[in-house]
Amino acid sequence: MSTKTEPADAEGASSSMKDEIIRGLNEDLAREYKAIIQYVVFSNTLKGAEYGDIAEQLKKHASQELAHALEVARQVDYLGGDPTMKGKEAEYSQDSKTMLEIDLRAEQETIKNYRERIRQAERAGEFALSETLRDIIAEEQDHEIDLKDALGLR
Ligand SMILES: [Fe+2]
Ligand SMILES: [Fe+2]
Repeated sequence: MSTKTEPADAEGASSSMKDEIIRGLNEDLAREYKAIIQYVVFSNTLKGAEYGDIAEQLKKHASQELAHALEVARQVDYLGGDPTMKGKEAEYSQDSKTMLEIDLRAEQETIKNYRERIRQAERAGEFALSETLRDIIAEEQDHEIDLKDALGLR
């Protein structure tokens, strides 16, 4: 085996890393769309005096998820990909506590995936992207805390 670095190989590796990031970001974008739908609906259908505060917080989450979706779509476009038009399927419940549990699971899934995306971005040398994702993940962690508080899990 030659130890000489082939420019074509280097190019290929970096473009396949980029493709992997684009695919991952589109999955993240699809999760953001789902989060927007759930927060728009749940913030208006949560019932019970004990859930008044969290209902207001969920409206704020909805706006933040929209901002995340816009930012992730911008990053996909910047990397040369096509931002997805399709969201992950939103979940629904008529029970207020179950709604919050659905949201909590979704936030934890989202955080896990953004952590992976940050690692991929750093491996690929896309440091501006990893910085942007860190800002997003900080807000997802706040969402997780709001939901845990409302569920009495903290
Ligand atoms: Fe988000
Ligand atoms: Fe979130």
